Amino acid sequence: MITKLLNDASRENSLQLNSILSSGIPWLKLDLEGPKFRSEILNDAIKVNRDWQKIYDDQRESWRHPGDKIYYYPWNGPLLFGPKNRDEWLATISSDNNKTDENGSPMFVDEDYLCKKHRHAMDFTWYVDNDHPVRKWANSFLDDDAINIVSYYVLGPQAYYQPHYDVSPGNKWLSKIYAAVTWPDGSEFGFLDWGNMPVQEGDVFLINHYQDPHWVVNHSAQYRIVINIGCDLTKIQDLIKRSFLRR
Ligand SMILES: [Fe+2]
Repeated sequence: MITKLLNDASRENSLQLNSILSSGIPWLKLDLEGPKFRSEILNDAIKVNRDWQKIYDDQRESWRHPGDKIYYYPWNGPLLFGPKNRDEWLATISSDNNKTDENGSPMFVDEDYLCKKHRHAMDFTWYVDNDHPVRKWANSFLDDDAINIVSYYVLGPQAYYQPHYDVSPGNKWLSKIYAAVTWPDGSEFGFLDWGNMPVQEGDVFLINHYQDPHWVVNHSAQYRIVINIGCDLTKIQDLIKRSFLRR
């Protein structure tokens, strides 16, 4: 017999974006074709964007756990879209980065979270021209208004980033777009107790880098280049739902 409960449940039930984002899975492969670029663009990605990079170099120089000789080794993330004024940005986020870990080392709040938090309180801008392929690719599924940050994550030959948590207030859900522009053999992105994310060059994922300790390592002789996008995920919810249903 069809009860009212069953009838109501059947009629009202639908897939909710937050059910996917909050589910606890560390990654979801998106049903989205990744960007393919000419080598000049890849070479650009390898160059350090000093204005932005210096922030992290300065911070991470002092961000070492006792006993770790090198907590951070050579990591960089040139900025393509983000806060327009660096000084204003640093002043704004200084009060966000006020926590220390159990060893007394400063804990820096994840930049995706910070960009999202301050997105509409200050000017954000593209740092690349209109016709830059990363910009064109991002704008193929996101308007500028929905973007909080676009940056490269470049991991050089033999570089690594030790197991760590990223610090974020608020929910710790699937959050950022992670597009593997190059993924040379020997690249790994591990999540504790989940194994390595099954990445192939050109894949695009949504990742949760808050809940589980994770690390990256590049055992190859080539640069591993990823595009990181922080954005308003409600604007791509159809894509996320479609990707979930195709898993
Ligand atoms: Fe991380």
